[in-house]
Amino acid sequence: MNLVNLITPARTADADGCAAPPGTVTLVGAGPGDPDLLTVKAVKALQAARLVLYDHLVSPAVLEHLSPDAERIYVGKESSRHTLPQASIIELMVQLARSGRSLLRLKGGDGYIFGRGGEEAQALAAEGIPFTVVPGLTAAQGAAASVGIPLTHRDHACSLVLATGHLRDGQGLDMDWAMLARPRQTVVLYMGVNNLPEICRQLIAHGLSPQTPAALVEKATLPDERCITGTLAELPALALRHQVRPPALIMVGGVVSVRAQLVPSAPPVTAAAAPVHAVA
Ligand SMILES: C[S@@+](CC[C@H](N)C(=O)[O-])C[C@H]1O[C@@H](n2cnc3c(N)ncnc32)[C@H](O)[C@@H]1O
Repeated sequence: MNLVNLITPARTADADGCAAPPGTVTLVGAGPGDPDLLTVKAVKALQAARLVLYDHLVSPAVLEHLSPDAERIYVGKESSRHTLPQASIIELMVQLARSGRSLLRLKGGDGYIFGRGGEEAQALAAEGIPFTVVPGLTAAQGAAASVGIPLTHRDHACSLVLATGHLRDGQGLDMDWAMLARPRQTVVLYMGVNNLPEICRQLIAHGLSPQTPAALVEKATLPDERCITGTLAELPALALRHQVRPPALIMVGGVVSVRAQLVPSAPPVTAAAAPVHAVA
């Protein structure tokens, strides 16, 4: 892909010598994967888009809302493979907009929740490029509804924490473990599958019972979604046994146990000593 060719020559000046206005950027959250979970506003923006920069987690079914002749640029980032570094993505967006092109920036889930949409919006604001933001359902919301884990069921939780299990390169897992291990709280960790043993170890070391119900939700809302439940202590072994891979969420808290009442095929979460349960 020759990205330079996409950037048209600098905006031409009008008769008074003023540069034409830059293009606009629409930052759109594509939701967790199921295209039926797109917002109406997102669908309208997709249908109108002429140029789209999209990420790895945007499902092919979501892209079907695009016009067939819309230009598509894949700028996806997988945990170990970056097609374009984030700084280059931002630079490309700025250059395209400065050259007068309007574009739609499409991200999985919600762009402002672990999506680096905030960094992109900051850069656009700093450059004086007009932009709008269309929210999307974040993966935790999609997963909760899809697998039957009501994240703030009041019998079990009075707070909900969305946290990342993967910090910036080289910084390690420098988390506020005491805060995450508070009682009567649901914790949903994004990007944590590769650090799962350390996450479970730290939560237990900071006070959560090893018997705390926990779940892994892989590819939530997609046709091959999987939900694996167990106790916090047994979750790393379950992840290995079932070869859980990103994208997946880790959910920790009493609310996970409610699933057994909402999903007829789901087994109760049992103590660590008992056989583990996995539900596809
Ligand atoms: C870079 S973050 C993007 C989050 C996104 N902005 C959102 O609001 O959902 C990527 C992580 O989100 C989670 N994720 C995104 N989509 C998912 C899905 N369909 N099922 C499970 N986890 C998902 C995974 O933890 C994945 O590693």
